[in-house]
Amino acid sequence: MKKLPESFDSFVENLLAEAETVEGFLSPNEMRFLALVAACPTANGDVLEIGSFKGKSTVILAKAAQLAGDAKIYAVDPLTAPSATDPDLRGDESSLKDFQTNIERHNVADKIEFHQTFSYQLAETWTRPLRFLWIDGDHTYKGTKLDFDGFAPHLADGAIVAMHDVLHEFDGGIRVFMEDILLSPNFGASGFCGSIGWAQFRRDKQTGARFRAEKLALYRKLSRLIPHIVFKENLRGWEKKIYKLKRSRVPRSAVNPNDWLKLVS
Ligand SMILES: C[S@@+](CC[C@H](N)C(=O)[O-])C[C@H]1O[C@@H](n2cnc3c(N)ncnc32)[C@H](O)[C@@H]1O
Repeated sequence: MKKLPESFDSFVENLLAEAETVEGFLSPNEMRFLALVAACPTANGDVLEIGSFKGKSTVILAKAAQLAGDAKIYAVDPLTAPSATDPDLRGDESSLKDFQTNIERHNVADKIEFHQTFSYQLAETWTRPLRFLWIDGDHTYKGTKLDFDGFAPHLADGAIVAMHDVLHEFDGGIRVFMEDILLSPNFGASGFCGSIGWAQFRRDKQTGARFRAEKLALYRKLSRLIPHIVFKENLRGWEKKIYKLKRSRVPRSAVNPNDWLKLVS
């Protein structure tokens, strides 16, 4: 089993304190999880982030990947919040200035190969094997599916795919996570940390098949959320309460680093 880097806990807590100063939408447990995956490679390859916004997850990934000896991570975002599901830029035309300020202030500008374009455009020329694919861009079904289909062919054996907002009211993440990941024999260990859905890619379908029962149990829990999300614009009132009640049945607490490493080793 892989070991955690020395002093990992204190490294992560310092990293969280730094990342606090960057505007974004990640909970502390989600940030801890991203740091864990970036710092503890489960495969050979690079880290790619889709959707950087003002750089919160970018800073976490770039710093944590250094612990694994990665010279740099890759990130892609047009930085104009072009999707219907994007955060409000509050009057700014682009988050470029904030993104640049944040990665410079946290000393990771030279650790990021940034592509200011759409993920589906980058996918057309992408050739590098990936050990960690972090999808937090266009959360519509079409957008998330394009991201998955564009980059899944580059996943190295053992790589982790993680998607944000799978347990929010967008239909992209949850559908792609259910249909393309949980129902695929090429994914093994899987789970949630907060609203991040994650899974491990296995080239050998037999290895993935060992996790069939766990994946189907998760699929069933998620399928109960589908009627409240697909074809709906805005969840309100009782329906929102029912959605939240069903969502509370999906296990999504903090990930224990050592247990996680055992699972994906
Ligand atoms: C929720 S934010 C990302 C938040 C960021 N990961 C963080 O931790 O703060 C979504 C971002 O996705 C970007 N985006 C939307 N569609 C995209 C696409 N097709 N390709 C790449 N980025 C996209 C938006 O510009 C926006 O900055």
